[in-house]
Amino acid sequence: MYRSHSCGELRASHINKEVTLAGWVQKTRDKGFMIWVDLRDRYGITQLIFDEERTEKVLMEQAKSLGREFVIQVIGTVIERTSKNPKMTTGDVEVLVSKLTILNSSLTPPFTIEDDTDGGEDLRMKYRYLDIRRTPVRENLIFRHKVTMEVRKYLSNEGFIEVETPYLIKSTPEGARDFVVPSRMNKGEFYALPQSPQTFKQLLMVGGMDKYFQIVKCFRDEDLRADRQPEFTQIDCEMAFIEQEDILNIFEGMTRHLLKEINGVEIGEFPRMLYDDAMRLYGNDKPDIRFGMQFGELNDVTQHKDFKVFNDAELVVGIAVPGGNAYSRKEIDKLIKWVKRPQVGALGMIYARCNEDGSYKSSVDKFYDQEDLAKWAEKTNAKAGDLICVLSGETNKVRAQLSALRMELAERLGLRNPKVFAPLWVIDFPLLELDEETGHYHAMHHPFTSPKPGQMELLDTNPGEVKANAYDLVLNGNEIGGGSIRIHDKATQAIMLKHLGFSDEDAKAQFGFLMDAFEYGAPPHGGLAFGLDRLVAILGGQETIRDFIAFPKNNSGRDVMIDAPAPIDDEQLKELSITLDNKI
Ligand code: AMO
Repeated sequence: MYRSHSCGELRASHINKEVTLAGWVQKTRDKGFMIWVDLRDRYGITQLIFDEERTEKVLMEQAKSLGREFVIQVIGTVIERTSKNPKMTTGDVEVLVSKLTILNSSLTPPFTIEDDTDGGEDLRMKYRYLDIRRTPVRENLIFRHKVTMEVRKYLSNEGFIEVETPYLIKSTPEGARDFVVPSRMNKGEFYALPQSPQTFKQLLMVGGMDKYFQIVKCFRDEDLRADRQPEFTQIDCEMAFIEQEDILNIFEGMTRHLLKEINGVEIGEFPRMLYDDAMRLYGNDKPDIRFGMQFGELNDVTQHKDFKVFNDAELVVGIAVPGGNAYSRKEIDKLIKWVKRPQVGALGMIYARCNEDGSYKSSVDKFYDQEDLAKWAEKTNAKAGDLICVLSGETNKVRAQLSALRMELAERLGLRNPKVFAPLWVIDFPLLELDEETGHYHAMHHPFTSPKPGQMELLDTNPGEVKANAYDLVLNGNEIGGGSIRIHDKATQAIMLKHLGFSDEDAKAQFGFLMDAFEYGAPPHGGLAFGLDRLVAILGGQETIRDFIAFPKNNSGRDVMIDAPAPIDDEQLKELSITLDNKI
């Protein structure tokens, strides 16, 4: 038996018991006549004591030889501590060691294995197995486990069946590039790793599974950000014989269940917002509604004067920053600089101070009088003491810029409290999105999403206006899930693919299997997928998903621990019939 108790288990009630513990040496304190060792495992830390008067000399010597992160096993007696540590769960006791076995030694770790470590991100990623020994990282993984278990429990209780779908498949477009895998047995041919199990879950509905879910890895070759990894996990779900309302209810229920079980927070019915309203009021399809600062559109109250910048703009739009009138001129200049950074891309920012006495002072007083500015305040809901920030330009761009400013200011004002949860359904997404670069439309969600009833006709005349039966679940300004009601007949799917620029041949080659299946009695169906990594991070009060993934990739998509991706040898390339440019 390696251990009788864990390192987090011993209490005053164990005093005088003989115990066996095993774990890692967190640290040692050597006073010469007395040595203390903090022994750590997943469950906690227990203090060991070696004492000249009560411990044999050989054992004292052995204890002195211990280094950080040595793996040891000890046998000893639980005794009461003279100076108790109320901060530790095991702080009332210590173990007077009678036998010590060194199970493995350790090199000095490259960073301290403590809550606040001295290790930088790169170093911790390279030695991720050591990082996982640290409490915050370990706790995040345990937290993820708890969320996953609750998800399985909830869905299973609702009658969902977990079915695994293959990883070596043909491309399923979700808007990113595919990771591909060459096939040795089929020379010159490639599998694609799934961007999602979308087509398979639809085939499971044709197969009569009725309610499916899967906690599943998805792979997308896209630019990485704090909330994006090249491989990530979805809670992927699909249901047959349902309408949008059924789906929203089931998954609202699941999210509510998680908030209650995991965070102890009870939340009533989730608000719903039309996509068009989200864009108009927040400039964003995933608004953080924990705080206000809604957009006020100002075209009507700005374009009647000689200010060319506003007159030439498609949209003039502002927000009121609570208490922002307190900002000094220098601070406002800094804000203007911030919106002009290439990442935000605004050309400038106009502002108006709302003074306590009800008067206004703007950066464009030459053009606008007090009456005009009062209207700006009304439209942006600005109060005395606020600062109105106004951007102008092309609608889509200026909305994105003001949305970035809104989030930045909210962060600075401490309005994004991670302990407050504000879920929101965004519904009625457009079916198609115009790619500004190519001038082509592509599916905003994916090509299997059905248009709202009666909107098919619009596809020919005004494709950008067609709304879809598509919805996203937003939590604290993050898209944690998204889905749609699907097309379930071949003819409609064919029309959709045509509008997305697929020739009949391409459509057949890529999605023939799905359209064929639709001809054998496909039921009406729909579903959604949550991003598990994002969901877990946000429930855990954070937004960086890397911290909740055991072995994440860095921002260049590399695993620096195992050093992947890596070249493969010539023999392997030959076997796969792959010739690399630089080998020619
Ligand atoms: P979608 O593409 O919206 O929908 O993805 C669903 C959810 O997955 C999460 N997500 C990601 N998380 C981490 N890293 C990424 N690179 C990443 N990309 C997406 C997001 C997102 O809301 N098949 C459809 C679902 C459906 O229609 O049922 C799909 O994949 O939280």
